[in-house]
Amino acid sequence: MKQKEKKLIAERLNVLVANTAVLLMQTLNYHWNLKGPEFNDYHKLFNQQYDDLFVYLDDLAERVRVVDGIALGSMDAMIKHATIKEDKGKVPTPQQMIQKLFEQYEYQIAEYRDVIKFLEKDTDDFGSINLLEDMLMKHEKTMWMLRSLLGR
Ligand SMILES: [Fe+2]
Repeated sequence: MKQKEKKLIAERLNVLVANTAVLLMQTLNYHWNLKGPEFNDYHKLFNQQYDDLFVYLDDLAERVRVVDGIALGSMDAMIKHATIKEDKGKVPTPQQMIQKLFEQYEYQIAEYRDVIKFLEKDTDDFGSINLLEDMLMKHEKTMWMLRSLLGR
């Protein structure tokens, strides 16, 4: 791959890195501060989700390195590059947490699709395409679970 092409790929991947870091921190927040009768179920669900997000974060950041980029590595950089806004208000109700996550996963899935389309059209980076397609499917499964919890 050309140097210019790799730079563009790293930039797009780093946005996914930043969004994943924001989602990870927020999911930890929900896992810790959740209150109410749903505690046990949601506490476990959020645990599963942050475990998954950590794996995505690590795989995405390492892929940035594979294409010769510099992986974002500070909280400051994550916030600056993220296109998902973190929920930093007061602790939401359990139902609001699920609603918020549902919207954010929906957004993140659209970002994944967008980056995959870019990779397919403008690059021959089949490795990144393969990685992102796999992660996209996993995000879709999580969104299905969140949607079901919302009764939709
Ligand atoms: Fe925990």
